[in-house]
Amino acid sequence: MRVLRLLAVLASSAWLLASGQTDDVCRAQDRTYSTDTMPAGTYQPYDKLNPIMGALSTKFYVTVVNLTPHRFVLEGTHSYQMDEFSFGDVPQGRARQNPVKYRGTWSTRDDAGEAYYRIDGTDKRFALRVKSYIPSSNPRRVVLDLSGMGLGQREYVFPGGDAAVSLVITGSHRFGFQASLRHGPGNWMRRMYNVIRDRPVRHLIMPGTHDAGMSRISDKIVSIGSEENTQNQGVNIYDQLRAGSRWFDLRIGSVHANDDANRNNGYWVMHVNNEVASLAIGNTGESLDDVVGELNRFTTENPGEIIFVALRYLVGRYEFPDRGPIRWSAAMVDDFFHRLRSIHNRCLHLDTSTGFQNHRASYYMDHNEGKGCVVLLLNGHLDPGRESPADGIYHMGRMGIRDHWSNRMHASDMAPDQVGTWRSYTRGGGSDHGGFTIAQWLVTPDAVASTAYSLQNFAIQPTNPSLYWAGVNGMDPEHWPNVLMVDYIGVQQRDQWGWDRLSAEMYTLAVGLNLYMASENCDVAKRRSPLLRRDGTVGVESRDSEVPWNGIIFANGTTVDDPPPTLHIGRVEVLRNGTVFGNGTVLEQNMPNPWL
Ligand SMILES: *[C@@H]1O[C@H](CO)[C@@H](O)[C@H](O)[C@H]1NC(C)=O
Ligand SMILES: *[C@@H]1O[C@H](CO)[C@@H](O)[C@H](O)[C@H]1NC(C)=O
Ligand SMILES: *[C@@H]1O[C@H](CO)[C@@H](O)[C@H](O)[C@H]1NC(C)=O
Repeated sequence: MRVLRLLAVLASSAWLLASGQTDDVCRAQDRTYSTDTMPAGTYQPYDKLNPIMGALSTKFYVTVVNLTPHRFVLEGTHSYQMDEFSFGDVPQGRARQNPVKYRGTWSTRDDAGEAYYRIDGTDKRFALRVKSYIPSSNPRRVVLDLSGMGLGQREYVFPGGDAAVSLVITGSHRFGFQASLRHGPGNWMRRMYNVIRDRPVRHLIMPGTHDAGMSRISDKIVSIGSEENTQNQGVNIYDQLRAGSRWFDLRIGSVHANDDANRNNGYWVMHVNNEVASLAIGNTGESLDDVVGELNRFTTENPGEIIFVALRYLVGRYEFPDRGPIRWSAAMVDDFFHRLRSIHNRCLHLDTSTGFQNHRASYYMDHNEGKGCVVLLLNGHLDPGRESPADGIYHMGRMGIRDHWSNRMHASDMAPDQVGTWRSYTRGGGSDHGGFTIAQWLVTPDAVASTAYSLQNFAIQPTNPSLYWAGVNGMDPEHWPNVLMVDYIGVQQRDQWGWDRLSAEMYTLAVGLNLYMASENCDVAKRRSPLLRRDGTVGVESRDSEVPWNGIIFANGTTVDDPPPTLHIGRVEVLRNGTVFGNGTVLEQNMPNPWL
């Protein structure tokens, strides 16, 4: 009898398999991640951070990241007046840094090149164009033309000499695609609730922001910290949240009158060399009140997210910070906690019987009647063990964290160190690394270098762009960090910090790593990858609210929402005598561009 029943169960599961009803189960044989060997990339050489050397550069890179189950197939290239124009296929889950080198000098106006891609197994195409615009203050530009996917066009300037522009694409034919030309809705976690709800937070991947409140210099302490060497972000906490950040490295100090330690001039974000040194060198950024207001504005507009705020420092400094730290009294800690209680959607009474990294995403997202969680984690100089779970304020030790800081000045030293660290932890299955890992994808230049070249340039030229090839190719479905912490999140072009001028590489990377990369690991994702389901829309909420957009964003920020369908910026209509094709053929007379 029992045997018969077992046979019946076996037969029905065989029938399920045969009839394809296992669409909801992740199966190893469905994996699409490619293990192709990718060409090595190149880091920006240090001398190119020098603006004069950078301006003389003729070499640039266009990095393409594929977080889809389809290969990006290069259909062809042509280039004119280029010494190098080396594009290639981008397999599933991988990134390719494509080098280009202009032959011409600054006076060459007609140099140009185009690379045409199709997304295998779909009718989608995109084109990458490199051109010079002379005269112009930003003559070397690249156009990412995704109009063939209904995702618009955007013209970028290279952020520096020998620097890269990156394109990140995720989604699938069934699911729909999204790309890094523009930010998507603020609630990226909520929108994939059904994809991530059963994953412990140690199986999520999220952007983080380093020295998160240092988006301006507020001069509340008298010190030499300047925008160049002390400011780490271009946009405030609200826009960092919209740009995808869910982990905040927030360093808070109180500022006290020089002649009276009891006169507290308020709580400020601080960035100093050492908050407990007798002389602290640095400056202050946003006020704690600003930070609270920005968090609340975001969570009101975007309920249902998980936001971690790691609170560091938590000491006072005199306005002239030359006499050591002022340890907070019990009354000051109470006052500080009182201010934290004005943060909405804190997570009260979290279950502390296991590390916070082990709770499922839904545990946090469902909190506060589905409004989600702002998890406050203390990691400063308060008494050890000080916390207040009834207020949603916890000691950092509640979460099992591996936080790795490379402390290197050059991205070429930092990147392999970060990749090596996250590759040493396996995700999912019996050997699952049980912790929550923070990759600090940032460099630590000395005071002279940061003052000369600015933290902003260090972030947007060598460091952040290297995440999209060195970082991405250092990941696979079993190896990734939980937080990718950066300086100057969203900033692509120097000093362009308006929301519309930001670019969404980090946002799209985070969405794609959760949707695609982690979903290809069947020990992490029990359900079939949302990108492979027959009903591609299963798993993501409110896709209908997404407004289709096929406009153009120019390098100067001008946006055209409804361009004529024939308008493709930088497109070459006639290939000139001397044009070189990807297969090496050189044109001997003008001809119409065959790819149009
Ligand atoms: C920006 O560039 C576009 C295209 O080159 C041009 O039409 C527009 O006038 C420019 N806008 C500004 C504000 O310079
Ligand atoms: C090289 O590519 C061009 C453009 O696709 C094509 O017209 C030409 O026939 C190719 N030449 C060879 C030798 O394959
Ligand atoms: C194309 O350029 C070559 C080299 O400059 C020249 O010899 C040739 O005459 C040109 N062909 C035409 C049709 O103009």
